[in-house]
Amino acid sequence: MLHNARVLVGISGGIAAYKSAHLVRLLKKAGAEVRVVMTQGAQAFIQPLTLQALSGNPVATDLLDPAAEAGMGHIELARWPTHIVLAPATANLIARLNAGMADELLPTLILATNKPVFIAPAMNQQMWQAPVTQANIKNLQAMYPSWQWLGPDAGEQACGEVGAGRMLEPEAIVEALQPAQKLAGKHLLITSGPTREALDPVRFISNHSSGKMGNALASAALRLGAKVTMITGPGHLPVPAGVQQVAITSALNMLQAVQDKLASCDWFIGCAAVADYRPAEVSEQKLKKGAEDELSLQLVKNPDIIATVGQHPQRPSLVVGFAAESEALLQYGEQKLKRKGLDWIVCNDISQPGIAMNADDNAVTIIGHSSQKVLSQASKQKIGQQIIDFLIEQTL
Ligand code: CTP
Repeated sequence: MLHNARVLVGISGGIAAYKSAHLVRLLKKAGAEVRVVMTQGAQAFIQPLTLQALSGNPVATDLLDPAAEAGMGHIELARWPTHIVLAPATANLIARLNAGMADELLPTLILATNKPVFIAPAMNQQMWQAPVTQANIKNLQAMYPSWQWLGPDAGEQACGEVGAGRMLEPEAIVEALQPAQKLAGKHLLITSGPTREALDPVRFISNHSSGKMGNALASAALRLGAKVTMITGPGHLPVPAGVQQVAITSALNMLQAVQDKLASCDWFIGCAAVADYRPAEVSEQKLKKGAEDELSLQLVKNPDIIATVGQHPQRPSLVVGFAAESEALLQYGEQKLKRKGLDWIVCNDISQPGIAMNADDNAVTIIGHSSQKVLSQASKQKIGQQIIDFLIEQTL
């Protein structure tokens, strides 16, 4: 079930470190390739040799070891995994992560990675409850919304006390790494980012869309087993690993790319901020400044890409649009839903500060033909997950 997974298990120094040996065995049994990184503290509880034997790979412990760096160095180790599991994650490790410290190999790796991180805290119940531990976790959750926190369990602790702080059982940790592949076999086509409409070889009309929301939707769908193709405009952020990307420039290019992919796609999500108009003429030479103080541009309407999809003979089974509105959010959203032949439209209120275009957060109302769902302000990553979960609930 974890075939093709490369799991990096990070062990820090707590008594629960003995359970990590079992975790490594289970991960291997599930088909994953496993590498282990241990802190100094962890080595006081369990020998690297044990983990080496169980994982079948050398255990990394030192940041400044030239021999280890010559093999798989810390940056390569940060790039290698498909999943990083910190089990146990002690209060100390969590505090170091929150402070962004790179004082040992394990926290350095976490600082240097963009891979999915799963954290299984384990510590004395008083340490778990300590306001500073809770504040560290809250801060990390805000900074890294995609990290998944597993547990801790409550119960009798190694120190004899009873409460929350026991590491989640290895079986439960392995299960958490394999989310139900609810979108397996589905192909999602997502348009994302701005389009750019040329005036001449050096000038264009465009907008501030960053592609963050499109990326968040793509990551959420990939995690659930979908195949994802993104058609992205210029200046788009790098797409998540695993996405098939078609990079385009103008709205006309985007329409062509969408039509090329339509036959094979099951869901279409139009997240792009498509320019509504383009210059009527594109000058082959750079336009020169004239004697007049005013200049009028003649623009012509671009095709409506999502409306084309909504009415297409090869219409995918689900077509979802976005609407950015500065007033009458729901009214305009509903009109677009009907006019463009959509199943759902995700409406953002761009008059609210700190959300929507180019921001890290969003807050949306999803409007359908017979129901609505409000998703309150959260990171785009989280909103992306919630939108995909909602669409799954409604359709599968
Ligand atoms: N859209 C599209 N092609 C266009 C314009 C918009 O596919 N030429 C899609 C967007 O990707 C989004 C939805 O239509 O999913 C709504 O975009 P929006 O800009 O809010 O709506 P418009 O139709 O452009 O209306 P207006 O700008 O007047 O609000």
